[in-house]
Amino acid sequence: MPVNLKKEDNVKFFLDTADLAEIEEAASWGALAGVTTNPTLYARIGGKLDDFHNHIKRICDIVGPDCPVSAESVAMTRDEIVRDGRELAKIAPNVVVKIPTMVEGLAATRQLADEGIPVNMTLCFTVPQAILAARAGARYISPFVGRFDDISEDGLAQLDDVVRAIGNYDFTADTVNGEQIEIIAASIRSANHVTQAALMGADIATVPFGILKKCVSHPLTDRGLESFLKDWEKVQNA
Ligand code: G3P
Repeated sequence: MPVNLKKEDNVKFFLDTADLAEIEEAASWGALAGVTTNPTLYARIGGKLDDFHNHIKRICDIVGPDCPVSAESVAMTRDEIVRDGRELAKIAPNVVVKIPTMVEGLAATRQLADEGIPVNMTLCFTVPQAILAARAGARYISPFVGRFDDISEDGLAQLDDVVRAIGNYDFTADTVNGEQIEIIAASIRSANHVTQAALMGADIATVPFGILKKCVSHPLTDRGLESFLKDWEKVQNA
């Protein structure tokens, strides 16, 4: 169901990668609003444990202070996650601590939010999980679309439920500095996922670089450009 409310902020693209070249390229296009990383994405670029914080710093330097950069904690207990989160938050002011939706993660989120550290609650699949994340003070909630599709469920329908359920309430009192919670449509596998996420009123779509490129282009755009250039040649030779 489309959302007709005008939100305080406009829909945004985040890049879902740890690859610096991709981030530099996407940032140069002028429309990038943030970056999300996860342990898999960091492993994919051959990331080393002792370089993780430096790598997050490099991403923050590329995108600048206005773009949130999510860095995930892989700790499993609330105290460890909080410790991890505090360290990650020291890297740069725009670091957002990414924490999985689980009991220990919720408790850590509450603690970090109370300390003014923004959290992106990840691996969120259902409305109750999203509500708990919101109540725990998460600044961002990341429902996964594609992974739901992977198990023959309807990821977009689940995202729609989360967007509408969270949109029914004002959670600003629970979040860091009373900011509006933003829903990040994650695990995006196609440009159509982005379309549907925006129609539902998701605040952000975090997309792999390959999907971002697909979002820019369309065969009719290419065909139209080709004919414009051909016709312009005629003008020049007239
Ligand atoms: O950032 C988390 C999410 O976007 C991962 O996506 O494609 O691995 O399910 P995917």
